[in-house]
Amino acid sequence: MKILSTPFRALIIGSSGTIGAAFVELLQDNPNCLGVVGVHRQSTPAINYLDPQSIEACANALLNEGPFQLIINTIGILHTDQWMPEKRLDDLQAEQLMELMQINAIGPALTIRYFSKLLDPDGSIMASLSAKVGSIEDNRLGGWYSYRSSKAALNMLIKTAAIEFARTKPNTALVALHPGTVNSRLSKPFRGQQIGRPALDAAADILRVIENIEPKDSGSFLSYSGEKLPW
Ligand SMILES: NC(=O)c1ccc[n+]([C@@H]2O[C@H](COP(=O)([O-])OP(=O)(O)OC[C@H]3O[C@@H](n4cnc5c(N)ncnc54)[C@H](OP(=O)(O)O)[C@@H]3O)[C@@H](O)[C@H]2O)c1
Repeated sequence: MKILSTPFRALIIGSSGTIGAAFVELLQDNPNCLGVVGVHRQSTPAINYLDPQSIEACANALLNEGPFQLIINTIGILHTDQWMPEKRLDDLQAEQLMELMQINAIGPALTIRYFSKLLDPDGSIMASLSAKVGSIEDNRLGGWYSYRSSKAALNMLIKTAAIEFARTKPNTALVALHPGTVNSRLSKPFRGQQIGRPALDAAADILRVIENIEPKDSGSFLSYSGEKLPW
């Protein structure tokens, strides 16, 4: 039995990002979507993972907009003005590892904690964008220590929360989703324009996967193609 009922209401966290904005655009044109709300660092209310208190405050400010049947969190970083992904162990730095953990793992985990009260208890999906390079089993190339380990931590946090939700929120599915390589700000320094596909294509693929999610899929790591990825 598919979880996402129609019509549904959606919340996109990180709607200023390339993939986040593509989700908003697609959902605004989707006749099954009754309404879509987007939040990001500059929105009102705002959400900023460098200020963890903003996560709870943002969720509380949106209480009257819910319940949502779908929440997609697209926030994540690979590089900043200060950091590029590590090529070798000698590049590893505590500050970089901590910042990527804060934005890619701790922020999204607290988002699951505080935003889960906005989910429809009768049937809802909360998806967080992870990355296949966060798969421990699939790690063949090495490198990118901070990004890989922050996404692996995110995956564990999602899996653990999904086990708890199976008891406490049995009609809610929590999933980690891999969007594939997408032409975006995040992928730009890594030939994203050449090897990445358009964000609207990635968002459309992911929405198809989401539409087919069943309760048994909660706690899984899914690719944009629907394939189950190894943790
Ligand atoms: N692009 C790819 O090829 C690819 C591949 C695998 C996985 N992913 C994952 O997909 C997700 C979306 O990536 P994208 O390609 O759309 O990247 P993007 O265009 O760079 O968007 C990143 C989003 O994260 C937000 N963000 C960054 N730091 C933040 C902070 N401290 N607090 C709150 N928000 C913050 C950005 O907000 P601002 O607009 O305020 O900067 C923006 O909304 C990420 O989780 C990424 O890891 C992407």
